[in-house]
Amino acid sequence: MTSQKHDVIVLGSGLAGLRAAIEAAHNSGLDVAIVSKVQLMRSHSVCAEGGTAAVMQPDEGDSFELHAWDTIRGGDFLCDQDVVKRFVAEAPKEILLLEHWGIPWSRRPDGRIAQRPFGGHSYDRAVFAADRTGFAEMQTLYDTLQKYPNVSRYDECYISSILIKDNTFCGVTAWDLTSGQFFFIQGKALIIATGGACRMFGFTTYSLTATGDGLAMAYRAGLPIKDLEFVQFHPTGLVPSGILITEAARGEGGYLLNNKGERFMEKYAPSKMEVAPRDIVSRSEITEIEEGRGFPGPDGLDYVQIDLRHLGAAKINERLPMIREVAIKFNFIDPIYEPIPVRPAAHYFMGGVHTDIDGATSIKGIWAAGEAACVSLHGANRLGANSTAECLVWGKITGDNAAKYASKKETIPPPPKEATLKEEEARVFNRFSPNGKESAYVLRRELQRIMDSQVGVFLTGTGLKIALDRIGELKQRLPDVKVKDCGRIYNTDLLSVLEVDNLLDLAEIIVTGALSRTESRGGHSRRDFPNRDDVNWLKHTLAYYTPKGPRLDYIPATITMWQPVERKY
Ligand code: FUM
Repeated sequence: MTSQKHDVIVLGSGLAGLRAAIEAAHNSGLDVAIVSKVQLMRSHSVCAEGGTAAVMQPDEGDSFELHAWDTIRGGDFLCDQDVVKRFVAEAPKEILLLEHWGIPWSRRPDGRIAQRPFGGHSYDRAVFAADRTGFAEMQTLYDTLQKYPNVSRYDECYISSILIKDNTFCGVTAWDLTSGQFFFIQGKALIIATGGACRMFGFTTYSLTATGDGLAMAYRAGLPIKDLEFVQFHPTGLVPSGILITEAARGEGGYLLNNKGERFMEKYAPSKMEVAPRDIVSRSEITEIEEGRGFPGPDGLDYVQIDLRHLGAAKINERLPMIREVAIKFNFIDPIYEPIPVRPAAHYFMGGVHTDIDGATSIKGIWAAGEAACVSLHGANRLGANSTAECLVWGKITGDNAAKYASKKETIPPPPKEATLKEEEARVFNRFSPNGKESAYVLRRELQRIMDSQVGVFLTGTGLKIALDRIGELKQRLPDVKVKDCGRIYNTDLLSVLEVDNLLDLAEIIVTGALSRTESRGGHSRRDFPNRDDVNWLKHTLAYYTPKGPRLDYIPATITMWQPVERKY
C-alpha cells in the first residue's frame, strides 16, 4: 500500500482546521497536510451566519469578566471556568488577526468593527460580516493559507481510521474519493477538526456532509468522547428545510410570534425576550406548539413565526440579506412583508473528543479543536457566536502545540504492518455486499426519525430507552446493507454507509449519556427529572468505546470563579 508522510495532519477543513493548519505552518517550516472529505470551501463552517463573539469595546462597557459570566451562566455552570477565562481573553486577538488578513467585517458609522446582540450575551458582542460571517471567515483563512507552500491539501479524501501505537499517534488510513486509491498517511501529530454530527437528526441546520466521521473514528481508536448528551437545538430552523435563520435576525430586533400574534418569550424570559439563550427559547417554542399556540406545518413540523417586518427593508437588506434570499428562494416568503415559519432544529454538539485546556487528548500526538472537540467551553448549552470564536481560538492553540510537538520529534513513528493496513482496507471496501437486503438511506432516515421523535428538545427516560433499542436494531441491520456500486472512485453509495455507521455509534453515545444523566441542565431537558442537580451531576460524562456499546465514566467540572446559582433571564 502506498503511503505519504507529513509532520502535522489536520483532519477537517472548516474554521478550526484551517486556523490550526495556518498556525502549524507559520514560521515552523513543518510539512502540514489538511485532509477533508469535501472540497475546502464546502466545509460546513461556511454556513455559519450571525457572528463571532469577542470583547472588542472594553472602553464602552464590555469586559472579559462579563463575557465569561455570560458563557458560564449560559452553559448552566457545566463549563470549565479556567477554559472560559482563556477563551474570552484570546477571542478578540483572533478578530483583529482576521481583520489584518482582510476580512470584510461589518462596520459602525465611526469605522469601528460593528457588533450585534446575540442570545444570552449581556452586551452587543457578536462581530459579523452581514449574515455570512462563516463564509467571510472561511474565505479569509483560505486566502491566507495560500501563503504557505508547506501546506498540502487532500480534498475529497475520507479518513477511515486513526492508527495509534504505544499510546502514540502514528498515522491515518485514507480513501481518495477522486482516484479511488486507499493509502496510509504517516504523521507525527494529528489535529481532529471534523465538526459535529447533527445529521443524525432529520430536522437540522447542518450540511448533509456533517456526519461526525472524525468523532466516531476517535471513539473507535480509544479516545473518550465527552458530554455528547448535550445537543443544542437552534430556535429558528426554517420550516420545512431546516436551513438556519440566524439568531442575528432576533439580535437585530426580530420578534417570535405564536398563532395569537403574541410575543410569547415575554412569559419565559421577560428580561431577554427573543435573545435569551437557545435552550430556553427552544423549550419555549415547543411549549407554545404543544399547548396549541403554534401553526400547523408539513410532516408534523408545526411552527412559530419570526417576524422581521418592523425592521424595514433597509435594515433587512443591509444586515440580513442572506436570510431574505433564503426565505424567498426556499419558501417564496419575502420577510420584508411576511413572517417566516421556524421551529427548533438540531444545530450543535456541546460535546466532542475530550481534551484538556490546550486541546490535547489522552493520546500523545493527537489534538482536537472546534465542534469535534470538547474542551468544556460551552458546558450544557453554548451561547450563539461562541462557536466560531472557539474554532479560531483553539484552532490556533492546537496548531501551535501540535507544531511544537512535531518539531521536537525527530522521527515519524513507523507505519503499521502491511497486514494491518490491508485489514483496514478490507473493512472499508469488503464489509458490505451488492446482495445485501438493507439500504443505508433507509437506515439513516429511520435513525433520523428516532432522534427527532425521542431525542428532541424535551427528553424522557421512556423515550430514550425506545431510542436506544431502536439504535441497537439499526446497528444489527447495518452489516446487511447493500452497496450497489462496486467501484472505488466517488463511490458515494459506500460513503453513505460509512457515514451511517458513524452516526449510529454517536447516536448511541448521546442516548446512553442522556439516559444516565438524571437531571435537567442546559440543552439536556428531562421531563422526568426537571431540576438541575448540582450535588450529583456537576460533572462531565466520558464515553469509552466497547464492542457492546459505550462505557460511561465521569470527571468533575472545573469551578474557579462562580458557584452555580439559579439560572433566570
Ligand atoms: O444563528 C446563528 O447565526 C448561529 C450562530 C451560532 O451557532 O453560533
